[in-house]
Amino acid sequence: MITQVEKMQKEVLVIEGKRKLQGILRVSGAKNSALPNMAATILTDKEVILENLPDLLDVKLMKQLLEDIGSHIDCIDNNVCSFRLSSPKSFVANYDIVSKMRASILVLGPMVARFGYAEVALPGGCSIGARPVDLHLKALEMMGAKIELQHGYIKAYAPKGLKGAHIFFEKITVTGTENIMMAAVLAEGQTIIENAALEPEVVDLAKMLKKMGADIQGEGTPRIVINGVKELNGTKHTIIPDRIEAGTFAVLSALSDGKIIIQNYPMEYLEYVNEVFKDIGIYILPVDKDKVIIKREERLKPVDIQTKEYPLFPTDLQAQFMTLLCFADGVSQITENIFENRFMHVSELNRMGADIKIVDRTAIIKGIKELTGADVKATDLRASAAMVIAGLVADGITKIHNIYHLDRGYEHIDTKLKNIGANLWREINE
Ligand code: EPU
Repeated sequence: MITQVEKMQKEVLVIEGKRKLQGILRVSGAKNSALPNMAATILTDKEVILENLPDLLDVKLMKQLLEDIGSHIDCIDNNVCSFRLSSPKSFVANYDIVSKMRASILVLGPMVARFGYAEVALPGGCSIGARPVDLHLKALEMMGAKIELQHGYIKAYAPKGLKGAHIFFEKITVTGTENIMMAAVLAEGQTIIENAALEPEVVDLAKMLKKMGADIQGEGTPRIVINGVKELNGTKHTIIPDRIEAGTFAVLSALSDGKIIIQNYPMEYLEYVNEVFKDIGIYILPVDKDKVIIKREERLKPVDIQTKEYPLFPTDLQAQFMTLLCFADGVSQITENIFENRFMHVSELNRMGADIKIVDRTAIIKGIKELTGADVKATDLRASAAMVIAGLVADGITKIHNIYHLDRGYEHIDTKLKNIGANLWREINE
């Protein structure tokens, strides 16, 4: 008997390439907004309702983690849930969940802020890099928490509560900024976060915290100022659209001959990406108040891309653009500046006939005429998306192994793609 998890890990996504794709792809709520906003529900004993939650593996894992801590969660449907943590039943985020989802670290700040204690398994490295959490821990220490690393767990104590501090992040960190913002809203006095992340997901979290009664200024700028309050209220909040899913759909649309309309494309979060699309010869054109279509020139132009923090080019779209640039007429370059090991999809694209070489942190992509179906493996969430796009536009059948990564971040992706004419199915690889 194989378990559900073992079954998932053996699942292979089989895609028949070159089908005509046509119809509407709707962008779901952002995973990377949903996770911190869910963690923020720890900060109050009142009810918080989240709408437009994506129905994803990572969201399910965060629900399980919150329930383990003592949250009562009621879901009206797959996308609307209410959360209430009246009194905690555990202060531990255990290894089992943290090892499956690094974003579990987001419960550390809110738990210490509200309860004065938390234990979170130390997230290890993952397939895209070492990904330490030292900056989260240093900032919490500056706020008066005592941190111990024992038996693979981070133990954070602040029995008398956290105190405001002036924090300068040496490196821009998205979940680090979110964790400390959540810790600071209930701390005594003022916290200033310098070199804060500017991502729309950080701003969305601040927006919800403010609705709960937090005093935050400067979100979306490198300097966030937070004046701690005694307690927070409940609220109702709608998660913003997923800019990475939207960008992924735009790449697919540009490479498909059909006519794909993208619904909920968040233009305002993708300004830089839209400019890069334009440089390649791809145009995002609004057709309705919440819909866009993608028009392209016959010949796609090669470009050089550097991944950087928001508002520049997101690392989370790097792999998908690598698939896109395989079809450019000439040589492109992509330099990955955020994670040290985020090129695992290169060898897989090369298996499909791509011509990509890696020199240090730069991938050199020579345009080719066609990709051909092959057995490939998904190495992380965004790499899986790149392989799915490649499979959909390649000649023949592509089998993507380890496809479970995809389900962490793309809501109902099989159904969405089938609805626009894709022919794909899952098999269990015995
Ligand atoms: N870093 C440190 N020390 C720290 C924290 C970060 O050295 O304490 C380094 C990291 O190793 C990395 C860089 O700083 O080299 C930036 O990492 P960051 O902390 O910003 O990444 P994250 O918060 O762990 C979030 C997203 C990622 C996304 C990155 C970068 C969530 C839940 N995750 O991760 O999303 O790639 O920001 O934009 O918001 C994904 O969705 O596929 C994904 C990986």
